[in-house]
Amino acid sequence: MLVLGIETSCDETSAAVVKDGSEVLSCIIATSKKDFQSLSGVIPEDAARKQILSILPVIDKCLEAVGVNSRSLDALAVTRGPGLLGSLLVGTVTARALAKVWDKPLIGVHHTLGHLSSTWLREKTDLEKNEPAFPILTLSISGGHTDLWYRISHTDNQLLGSTRDDAAGEAFDKGASLLGLNYPGGPELEILAHKGDADCFPFPVPLKEDATLDFSFSGLKTSLKYLLKDLASINPDFINLKKSSIAAGFQRAICAHLANRIIAALDMHHGTKEVHIVGGVSANQVLKAAVEERLMNSGVILRTPSSLRFCTDNGAMIAAAGTFLMRAKPDEMNKVFKTFATGNL
Ligand code: KG4
Ligand code: ZN
Repeated sequence: MLVLGIETSCDETSAAVVKDGSEVLSCIIATSKKDFQSLSGVIPEDAARKQILSILPVIDKCLEAVGVNSRSLDALAVTRGPGLLGSLLVGTVTARALAKVWDKPLIGVHHTLGHLSSTWLREKTDLEKNEPAFPILTLSISGGHTDLWYRISHTDNQLLGSTRDDAAGEAFDKGASLLGLNYPGGPELEILAHKGDADCFPFPVPLKEDATLDFSFSGLKTSLKYLLKDLASINPDFINLKKSSIAAGFQRAICAHLANRIIAALDMHHGTKEVHIVGGVSANQVLKAAVEERLMNSGVILRTPSSLRFCTDNGAMIAAAGTFLMRAKPDEMNKVFKTFATGNL
């Protein structure tokens, strides 16, 4: 089954052709992130305008790269939400028009279900790798959400915990901004922290005594703010000298919090076969190493998306989720999406 997936929920415009929900034949991603680098976030209307410019060239390039034309496609899948309204409209209206003209079925995909499916994606070079096996505990962490899911199947997902305030990616971005780094700050903060010593500035790990599987990051951001203020009052040059160690301490606390929640959830769900970490923050290697260490000798497999481009927003994950949805719930096809903002997975 060949599915064209379209993702336009924020500042990435992406189209991908995926075979049978896993083999990525082509995945093109255009991004307007650079335009927002000097700001501390995305301007929704600007992002939507960039989507309009990119959407058709990206789809053309994607189909050309794989050498298929619309006739070879079995279906289209598009992100129906949540996300920025203007950006979502560009993708959904384009997908609807193409599905109508090409006479193909179309399915609307929840953005989060896309991320949850991203661990199925494989490049041609790693096709021999085995498929994930349910039940799976999936931590979905991006700039917009921090959710822990217990997954019995592609369509049976139980939300175990979410963030009470900032998302994990937002915590990285806000911390990075306090340290004077560009948006999105996660990748830059990880690079900076690599040169530092996390032991120099230990940050409190959030919600350590809390029995729920919820997350919270706003306290960490406040700790960082006060630490920087205190250091500046002693000696303004001190922050620049110690920036990498401050970043390392801050990053370690975020990662410890995320890893603690995974381990607590595994204790409550015996028989879980795999732990998946998906979404933009899953690109963080310190997090992966921290979770890997905690899972050692547990028999539970840890998976992150097979390529960095499948961690952040991309059309391939939407094509994969769309394929699984169509197989499990064929009557969901060609439905009018009534909501952009919320709705079930
Ligand atoms: O999934 P995504 O591309 O978009 C959303 O749906 O939000 O995630 C983007 C988020 C940003 O907050 C970015 O700072 C974070 O993922 N991110 C990282 C890393 N790479 C991206 N955070 C920490 N370490 C990274 N290496
Ligand atoms: Zn996302």
